[in-house]
Amino acid sequence: MAVLPPTVRPIQPPAGSKIDFGAEITGVDLENLTDEHFATVRNALYQHHVVIFKNQQKISPKAQYELTKRFDPAAESYGHGKTIDAKRSVLHPDLKTVPHQPQVQIIGNGFVPSYEGLENFQLRHPHHRTFHKDHIPDDKDYDFTRFYRWHIDAALYDLNPPQVTTLLAVSVPKGRRQTLLYDDGSDETMDVPLGTTAFVSGERMFELLSPGEQEFVRTSKIEYAPHPYIWMSPAHSRSTGLGLHSEGLELPDKELPPIDDEKIMILPMLWKNPVTGKLALQVHPSAIRRIHLADGSVIDDLERVRDIIYRLQRPAISPQYVYAHDWEEGDLVLFNNRGVLHSVVGAFKPDEVRLFRQCNLAASEPPVGP
Ligand SMILES: [Fe+2]
Repeated sequence: MAVLPPTVRPIQPPAGSKIDFGAEITGVDLENLTDEHFATVRNALYQHHVVIFKNQQKISPKAQYELTKRFDPAAESYGHGKTIDAKRSVLHPDLKTVPHQPQVQIIGNGFVPSYEGLENFQLRHPHHRTFHKDHIPDDKDYDFTRFYRWHIDAALYDLNPPQVTTLLAVSVPKGRRQTLLYDDGSDETMDVPLGTTAFVSGERMFELLSPGEQEFVRTSKIEYAPHPYIWMSPAHSRSTGLGLHSEGLELPDKELPPIDDEKIMILPMLWKNPVTGKLALQVHPSAIRRIHLADGSVIDDLERVRDIIYRLQRPAISPQYVYAHDWEEGDLVLFNNRGVLHSVVGAFKPDEVRLFRQCNLAASEPPVGP
């Protein structure tokens, strides 16, 4: 069989969309990835941020892990380390670990009799009602939905944000679409495939800001809460999954596990693309705690911090800037976790079985600022 060189084809934005990221790659064997083909994949990833490989049903958990690790060979453990084992973490119910490849997690919905050494387990698709104060009424839940929570895949305490995430669609329920409603008082809506993963570009988020805002994000740093996924539980946010209001439901420090000040993360708001040098506004909105300004002062009032970040992020999550991936079984999506934000979307019926494999690794180095 003749071996064709890899091709990288940018996604054609649907009518009305202004997305400028996303590409499909063909002609690479991910199970036996050569250095030359990896160089093509890496370049494509940092140019296009979300890259799709079709028909990857057979990729092993080991090859998925190795592809993920190739972006950061010194990285070893899963992006959240063992912190998701904490029963109080908001992430705890959403993830099951592949026993023979513990950096790879199983996520999805419904009952699975057997998969990769796990038997008879139940998956639960995160539902926006656990994270939004006002949720879609139950009788409309299968027709309408919301963004669950915009985020970067990152522990944000002790462990550096992963460089990339890989997501493999093993089982995908088909046939329905949903209307996504923005719940921030805007009338924006978006027609989305059932259970889409939604992405927005951090570079576009930065470009849409005014010169004054760009200067602000260039010179300010964001401090994340210690143990953020325990702290934020059970935060009830509004505003399209950006977490504008919390109503003071975050846990006080004394109710958190012991805090090591050395492990608290204070990160630049802008992260530099290692290939293009472009800057992406990369802030995990529901884990933020304080803003450190260029003059050394600190904004400590959480509602004010949230309001500032919401205003900076919101323009870039309008429907024309959102890429909603229409999953097909066998899709492997590799995304630049330091250049996009993403969100779970949708509500499944109990018998709609969805099974995905996810892998990311706590990075060996922190993000590079401007
Ligand atoms: Fe994620």
